[in-house]
Amino acid sequence: MSDGRLKGRRILLGVSGSIAAYKAVEILRRLSDDGAEVRVVLTRNAARFVTALTFSALSSRPVLSDEFSEGGWGAMGHISVTDDLDLAVVAPATVNIIAKMAAGIADDALSTALAAAACPVIVAPAMNDRMYSNPILQRNIETLKATGVRFIEPGSGALACGVHGHGRLADTDRIVAEINALLRPSGALAGANIIVTAGPTREPIDAVRFISNPSSGRMGYAIAAAARDRGANVILVSGPTSLEPPAGVRMMPVTTASEMRTAVLEESRNAHIVIMAAAVSDFRPQHPGSRKIKKTDASLVLHLEATEDILLSLGKNKGGRILVGFAAETDNVLDNAREKMKRKNLDLIVANDVSKPGVGFGAFLNAVTLIDRSGAVSEVSLRNKSAVAGCILDKIEELKTNQGL
Ligand code: CTP
Repeated sequence: MSDGRLKGRRILLGVSGSIAAYKAVEILRRLSDDGAEVRVVLTRNAARFVTALTFSALSSRPVLSDEFSEGGWGAMGHISVTDDLDLAVVAPATVNIIAKMAAGIADDALSTALAAAACPVIVAPAMNDRMYSNPILQRNIETLKATGVRFIEPGSGALACGVHGHGRLADTDRIVAEINALLRPSGALAGANIIVTAGPTREPIDAVRFISNPSSGRMGYAIAAAARDRGANVILVSGPTSLEPPAGVRMMPVTTASEMRTAVLEESRNAHIVIMAAAVSDFRPQHPGSRKIKKTDASLVLHLEATEDILLSLGKNKGGRILVGFAAETDNVLDNAREKMKRKNLDLIVANDVSKPGVGFGAFLNAVTLIDRSGAVSEVSLRNKSAVAGCILDKIEELKTNQGL
């Protein structure tokens, strides 16, 4: 799903012969989805792991894998593939390609193309942990760093050779985030300070029980990642979820509505935009027990009190901030959402009808209606939450630009 952030950007994706070559397919897909023109260059060994056909089908353009066969790039393919490039990314990068780059060797399609590429270069190594700690490789990395090549440190974990160690190709998310950061997005959100809240809150009943809701956090995490990709400085205030924190985003984990409020109000002083995607608990037990409540035959009555409404507080002291709320409704969706936007003094409300199966809460997909302060309504049909996040951010960019917010 395209959010078009990399539209018009030309990226060379160099893939060398590591088992992690299959992950380059996902990197290609993500960059293409963001609108980039991706030109793939494979080493001969990379083409043994993943075929050129896979890459050419997904990039919709020819793949260069042999410097002596035209392969759709013309007689001087290794040169024309590097024309007008904004960035070259080598992922995964083996010991061999790093050594060739450091020594200036150009003896195959990828190394000759890299020698001709007059653009910033990012290298994401992937290899066995002993190979990664080899001093010759480390020296080559230092040599390349000194010439301005950026490296994305590999991660630790299970390696293809069966051992646990340091050498795994960095997460796709991280690689895509680095690429986005380097290409310096120039949209309205570039450099903006954005707080995103996500997930449920938990309100303790006693030492082992709590009140909560089925929010997965996926919508908020998708917004945080998409805002990061647009060059924003993102703080993600998240209730308990099972999701991996998005790379390049500042995480503030919280548990209760009250903790979320403290974190958001504190951070909002420097924020330009606050997006409250969290499903904040509206009530909490008035007197949570510090020990476990023992079971008896008698029924148990819990006295609940209202939690503080975070958005309402922000709306009372709005300043120049853009405030975005969510309205998860089962009845009179649009009317209720409009009422919430007005009462909480918001700029935009994202309404979703949670009575529809497979939508919103806990789901992978979402369909929402965006209503802004002026009353303009836009429908976002059913799609994955990253794509919905893109539409929400497009709308926020529009508000920011048109209203000078
Ligand atoms: N919200 C908040 N603080 C709360 C409760 C909700 O900031 N204590 C935010 C949510 O993150 C969401 C928006 O307010 O962005 C709407 O929340 P919702 O619970 O649906 O609305 P309420 O105003 O609580 O109304 P109701 O429960 O009656 O639908």
